[in-house]
Amino acid sequence: MIGIFDSGVGGLTIVKEIFKYLPEYQIIYFGDTARLPYGTKGAKFVRKYSAKITDWLLKKGAKIIIVACHTSSSWAADSLKKQFKEIPIFEIITPANKKALNSTKNKKIGIIGTTGTIRSEVYKNKLLNLDPSLKIYSKACPLFVPLVEEGWLNRKETKEIAKIYLKPLKNKGIDTLILACTHYPLLKNTIKRVIGEKIRIINPAEDLAKNLKLFLKNNPKLKSQLKKEKNHQFYFSDEPYNFEKMSKLCLGREVKINVKDPF
Ligand code: DGL
Repeated sequence: MIGIFDSGVGGLTIVKEIFKYLPEYQIIYFGDTARLPYGTKGAKFVRKYSAKITDWLLKKGAKIIIVACHTSSSWAADSLKKQFKEIPIFEIITPANKKALNSTKNKKIGIIGTTGTIRSEVYKNKLLNLDPSLKIYSKACPLFVPLVEEGWLNRKETKEIAKIYLKPLKNKGIDTLILACTHYPLLKNTIKRVIGEKIRIINPAEDLAKNLKLFLKNNPKLKSQLKKEKNHQFYFSDEPYNFEKMSKLCLGREVKINVKDPF
């Protein structure tokens, strides 16, 4: 199984891309709805629960771990890789950064994410490691997550809030923008309208899925250990808020879920 975890339901935007690029493999998803949001929590908390969830997913039979949550990828992915050396752990940051680097012409890249993701500066530092001459402009957009979960994707209020958040990035003349939060791909149209059609928008979920596909192609042994089944498993540590809406938005259908807090 491919193990995927997130703080809650937003990780379904990553599941959507995994289903698109690797439709044959069974996944097990864990959303830590009992403890969300992760975006406002500190590094220690996020590391602790990311490790517990990874361990739990491995015990459930996951052979690969995908850290779908950007805040977990920022705060915890490096420590997870050290702690769980025996399995491949995919964070969501690196493939998106590579894509952004290939996409930018003027070397000005914007990053939007949760307060934690932006505060960690992991996206920014990883990008600068790839090319120190880049100019990176980051902005936390904490209201975007509740707006998405409310289903307010194209409302005028959402557009107004997006204008406030994105104005400083627009003023800097960025030509590429990374959507560094699970929920933001669902706001892509609104963000595009506000920031301008010409700016290249990077959806890290898509780059991660493509990267995983390539990795499996190059690792046939591991690939052969993954189950080819459609009975995916979705676990949440508490009743997920507005789950039907999110699963329809991301997967085009409702899925059966299990609610239990293993911690
Ligand atoms: N999944 C989180 C992220 O991508 C957003 C929601 C939260 O703050 O927990 O950073």
